Amino acid sequence: MSHKILEGKKGIIFGALDDQSIAWKTAESVADAGGSFVLTNAPVALRMGTINALAEQTNSKVIAADATNLDDLNELIDQAQEHLGGKLDFVLHSIGMSVNVRKGKHYTDLNHAWMTKGWDVSAVSFHKLMQCLYQKDAMNPWGSIVALSYVAAQRTFPNYNDMADNKAYLESIARSFGYFFGKDKKVRVNTISQSPTLTTAGKGVAGLDGFLNYAEKMSPLGNATAKECADYTVSLFSDYTRKVTLQNLFHDGGFSNVGVSQEIIDAISPNS
Ligand SMILES: NC(=O)c1ccc[n+]([C@@H]2O[C@H](COP(=O)([O-])OP(=O)(O)OC[C@H]3O[C@@H](n4cnc5c(N)ncnc54)[C@H](O)[C@@H]3O)[C@@H](O)[C@H]2O)c1
Repeated sequence: MSHKILEGKKGIIFGALDDQSIAWKTAESVADAGGSFVLTNAPVALRMGTINALAEQTNSKVIAADATNLDDLNELIDQAQEHLGGKLDFVLHSIGMSVNVRKGKHYTDLNHAWMTKGWDVSAVSFHKLMQCLYQKDAMNPWGSIVALSYVAAQRTFPNYNDMADNKAYLESIARSFGYFFGKDKKVRVNTISQSPTLTTAGKGVAGLDGFLNYAEKMSPLGNATAKECADYTVSLFSDYTRKVTLQNLFHDGGFSNVGVSQEIIDAISPNS
């Protein structure tokens, strides 16, 4: 699936940690589609990860930035524009982290300092990023900004813990900031609500295997892979989706609109 629909477009991709990351696959797909970009991640993640291999593969530069830090974000946006030679056409926010999930804290017994930290990283960072882009007038008209979400923003998934609340907040920021970005700069802002996916962040959710199997059996088209999410994101960065904005777009094989599937009925039926 390699059409050069992003030829000449420039952007920033946040969140490629390793080759399982949704952002990693997105970087590969964007490069295949002809786009050029700067890769970024938190300094600690850059030390742990293998991002330099991706940078080499996609002929891109890596610039460290903690997405919760306004100075880092401003510096990143300046450097990215300088390196790429002009304003940006696309930005991917593929960032999520809950300290409570990491430390196995139950939702009924959260550490609220950790909750605040996870909210800042997973949701408020999206506002911070867009505010920096907006104030610097760093996006070209008809540019596209995408963040990644999960259906736990709308429906209860007990093990998703405080990430559910972070995703609800993230989706709301996309709508609220998307209004001003659309009106003032002709830039679209959307979230993609992706199927459960085996990545470092995904594996942090307790019982992910069960989650994945359940979603697979519920979705008429099956779970969407990270690569499929990457290709969908390319379409949202392209000129073919110029009037799509303020949306939370489900990329989940149909999961979000299914009440129950025959496979699940068969699996739990007393006679099975
Ligand atoms: N894996 C899933 O099942 C799934 C499903 C739906 C949505 N998502 C979302 O997709 C996005 C990407 O996650 P992933 O599954 O590819 O996992 P991942 O662990 O590969 O990516 C998460 C990224 O967030 C980065 N990050 C954390 N703190 C940061 C900070 N302060 N500054 C900058 N970057 C920071 C990490 O370094 C990492 O690269 C997240 O928003 C996640 O919630 C994941």
